[in-house]
Amino acid sequence: MKKNGFPKDFLWGGASAANQFEGGYSADGRGLSTNDFVTAGTKNTGRKISIKLKDGSTDLIDVESSIPVGAVGYIDDSLYYPSHNATDFYHNYEEDIRLLGGMGFKAYRMSISWARIFPKGGIVGEEPNREGLDFYKKVLEECKKYGIEPIVTLYHFENPMYLADNYNGWAGKETIECYIRYVEVVMNEYKDLVRYWIPINEINVLRGYARLGVRNTSASTRYQALHHLFVANARANKLALEINKNFKVGCMLALSGIYPQDCKPENVFGALEFRRRALFFSDVMVRGYYPSYSANMLEELGASIKTTPDELKLIKEFPSQFLSFSYYRTTVYNSSLPQRVDTGGQLGAENPYLKKSPWGWPIDPIGLRYVLNELYDRYQTPLFIVENGLGMNDIVEDNDTINDDYRIDYLRSHINELMKAVTLDGVDLIGYTTWGPIDLISSGTGEMDKRYGFVYVDLNNQGVGSSRRIKKKSYYWYKKVIETNGKDIN
Ligand code: BG6
Repeated sequence: MKKNGFPKDFLWGGASAANQFEGGYSADGRGLSTNDFVTAGTKNTGRKISIKLKDGSTDLIDVESSIPVGAVGYIDDSLYYPSHNATDFYHNYEEDIRLLGGMGFKAYRMSISWARIFPKGGIVGEEPNREGLDFYKKVLEECKKYGIEPIVTLYHFENPMYLADNYNGWAGKETIECYIRYVEVVMNEYKDLVRYWIPINEINVLRGYARLGVRNTSASTRYQALHHLFVANARANKLALEINKNFKVGCMLALSGIYPQDCKPENVFGALEFRRRALFFSDVMVRGYYPSYSANMLEELGASIKTTPDELKLIKEFPSQFLSFSYYRTTVYNSSLPQRVDTGGQLGAENPYLKKSPWGWPIDPIGLRYVLNELYDRYQTPLFIVENGLGMNDIVEDNDTINDDYRIDYLRSHINELMKAVTLDGVDLIGYTTWGPIDLISSGTGEMDKRYGFVYVDLNNQGVGSSRRIKKKSYYWYKKVIETNGKDIN
């Protein structure tokens, strides 16, 4: 039977990440994170990591390259690091949550900065940082005041520096133990305030020092680290059930859609194999085992990893309870494109049927319905869209007016397609949280100009400005969408 609309408890809201939104990087006992050394980039250049070499000299290296032996992350006072102040949610959280509450948010996805809770990551004998725990408690209580359900991501693109430098981040098994200590503290601390947890953000695009904490970038190191994340994810799922059986814990992937360029068999089968490089992660975390194609895939990627029977048993016994994902665009695959090991960062071949954002991201609402169906057909598990949106630079006109009709058009067309996925295709969708409801720093470029929000933040690409929050036209539009449970999207 066809459904009539969105479920009545559908989780409408928005999502953010601490390293892009929170700031306060050295406040109240927080330790350093790998992302704190990442400088701002531009639309055309990547981001860099500033390091100090063994001989005392300093350097800037590409964000995805290996850290030379003996080098450490280094903060150069003449450079701008977006994560340090970001958009200062740390000092503005009351106003910011009031703004979200004003739109009638049912849910707010946020991340906890691990190094704020354990400055060294949770090594043996380390005590949690009380001030860090208190900060998130205040944030969560503030959400409760407005009836907003928090969705908490525990690991979003930042690794305590201590673990990266001492254990090679997730490549070292010690990091699993530290992470589990952190998860246990946080889940116990907030067990009455949080129901939804996401242990790892976009696992399929994690690589390098900044996002994965690994100091060298070989395929074997990366996939070994990712295997350790599968183990950590399963252990977090297990722990969650022990702490509160009502917790819902889900995995999270970057899942832009993939189309073959044409019906040339090499392109069609190549697109399927390319897609598996992303779905491999949900295959493991949702189904609970390494899929049949994974041995060949890992070999092709040049990755050799070690697993133990106990680890595989754990992964099997404690799968994710829902599958959440970010969706921004689709990619066109053809067999002549350079291969990358994930689908998150690749823009692929031109799609002549789609318009692009100024950052070159194709805009494809039907692609969202396509991905929702692809995932639901494959897994038959509840789905949650935890990121979607259009990054655009907005113009503040007279009387603080911001006419972001392009953003409304983007979101309207995507909501229209997800409505079809729910009502016509019968996809079990828990919620929809748009990316960056209050403007925040871009993860890919480090710019402020790539804005996703319903609320403008007066800061430029160098972090200069008043930080003042200004409601955009889309603020009132999204409020109406939520109020009518998606019935009125005009
Ligand atoms: C996702 C991340 O990859 O995409 C977010 O989970 C990120 O952290 C978002 O901000 C949008 O990407 P960008 O580069 O526009 O910030």
